[in-house]
Amino acid sequence: MSLEAKVASVSLEDKSTPAVYINENTGVDAKTQDGSQAQPYQSAAFALYALGPELSASTTLKVFKEDQYETISPSALKKARKGSDGIAKKLEKAAKQAELAESKRAQDAEKLQAAKAIVFTEDPSLPAPKVIKLHQATENRGVRVKINGWVHRFRAQKGMVFMVLRDGSGFLQCLLTGDLANAYTTQTLTLESTISIYGVINPVLEGQTAPGGHELIADFYQVYGLAPAGEDAITNKVQENADPSLLLDQRHLTLRGETLSAVMKVRASLLRSFRKFYDENHVTEVTPPCMVQTQVEGGSTLFGFDYYGEKAYLTQSSQLYLETCVPALGDVYCIQESFRAERSHTRRHLSEYTHIEAELGFLDFDQFLSHIEDVICSSVDSVLADPIAGPLVKQLNPNFVAPARPFMRMAYADAIEWLKEHNIPNEEGKPFQFGDDIAEAAERKMTDMINKPILLTRFPLEIKSFYMKKCHDDPRVTESVDVLMPNVGEIVGGSMRIDNLDELIAGFEREGIKTDPYYWFLDLRKYGTFPHGGYGLGTERILAWLCDRFTVRECSLYPRFSGRCKP
Ligand code: 4AD
Repeated sequence: MSLEAKVASVSLEDKSTPAVYINENTGVDAKTQDGSQAQPYQSAAFALYALGPELSASTTLKVFKEDQYETISPSALKKARKGSDGIAKKLEKAAKQAELAESKRAQDAEKLQAAKAIVFTEDPSLPAPKVIKLHQATENRGVRVKINGWVHRFRAQKGMVFMVLRDGSGFLQCLLTGDLANAYTTQTLTLESTISIYGVINPVLEGQTAPGGHELIADFYQVYGLAPAGEDAITNKVQENADPSLLLDQRHLTLRGETLSAVMKVRASLLRSFRKFYDENHVTEVTPPCMVQTQVEGGSTLFGFDYYGEKAYLTQSSQLYLETCVPALGDVYCIQESFRAERSHTRRHLSEYTHIEAELGFLDFDQFLSHIEDVICSSVDSVLADPIAGPLVKQLNPNFVAPARPFMRMAYADAIEWLKEHNIPNEEGKPFQFGDDIAEAAERKMTDMINKPILLTRFPLEIKSFYMKKCHDDPRVTESVDVLMPNVGEIVGGSMRIDNLDELIAGFEREGIKTDPYYWFLDLRKYGTFPHGGYGLGTERILAWLCDRFTVRECSLYPRFSGRCKP
């Protein structure tokens, strides 16, 4: 009798014949069971499938219901017969697939074995290659070149290999055919291996796309360093949707990705652009110390350390040192790391960030604000005009539009009114009042709603730093400014500086800071005081805005924030 016939002939009830037991709760659908009360199946369908060959025509199926075994109902038996057919088909299919996979594995192993016999060597009759970097690819089309780089992508297809090579200066599609594609070395080549590849770069055919619009037809390559395969393969180490903290542990590898490396290229271009602007405007670069014994932006965010037995700190801002340079060098700037012991885990706070700071002499508040607009707009324009960084900004932030001058100017008092009108509460959940600090959440809401750069000015004395100059027309407020950008919020903080000695000492007293360690800073107000102002701009914050990154952590090479100081 066939299996189907046996299964079909299982009866409903016959007390004198053997029974097969099914218990949904304690049963197991596995061939290790025998269908006895001690070893019941979980489903009737599986019981029929499993016992098919051994079932006698009169076997009864008993199903456990509430507290006893009952004979299966006719409808349940019908359903079980169908289910049993399904299981048989499914398992048959799985067995076929396993067989196919095994045969493919065997074929692949055979091919790999055969590939060992294929060796490729450089054809000595070919012209000597010109060694180039990938940024020089276009101007070197048509000649034989040698390029060193990392295997960024790899796809083998019908005896051909399409590989994307990366050398840090660009990407290049490479095509390997014949022995070059079939050789064991190629068949076992892994992503992130370093190779030197030889061949001729040609434009790709119309309708085809490749980085730079061309590809290298390879005639030879050598492996310099083979990256791991299997468990340690780069694709296992760095997975796109992995937990951010795991990706940060692998930052040295994630940096090689297209997005992060693009942000870092834009970053380099942005810093270059700032330097270019300062250079063109006769602002001199200086390098103030990072180890200091003074504070600038409040004691609560100072990182302290022992300096040969004396208390010292990592600098929060180079501002005070920059101020001292103006009488010696004229307008000055620095691009220096600043350190903040921030406990807050926000998307815009780092413990270490690259601070672009400038200090300018003999200008008024209005000229100062215009300078800030100029430095931001000119630097952004330079990045966009940069042949490498410009397209990367487009790729990272397709909707980016360079901001127009002048920026919207809004006094703090008007911002308070705006926040009240828009029912945005202060940190205590109450309507804003003059004198409240506009904390990150409210500031971001306002900036995002206005959706353009804002120069937020004239903050009250009490919520700003000790060195800020009071406004002539309203001594409650200061000649201070924060530049706010959509999606990020504050990217610049700056002010005109108090240039009167007594007023400055009063500022120190207001903040409860002892003046002794600041003698050199106070001297500035004695030895030829002068009107001046300055600002600090967070590189990672302006980048987060420019490259549309969710957090400043994506804009720092190896970000530091509370809980992370590695790798
Ligand atoms: O507003 P801040 O604290 O101002 C100063 O340090 C002034 N002494 C600068 C000066 O006038 N020379 O910081 C200036 C900018 C902020 O607008 C922000 O962009 C950035 O530095 N910044 C931070 N960036 C990342 N992480 C942090 N924890 C930051 N703190 C400030």
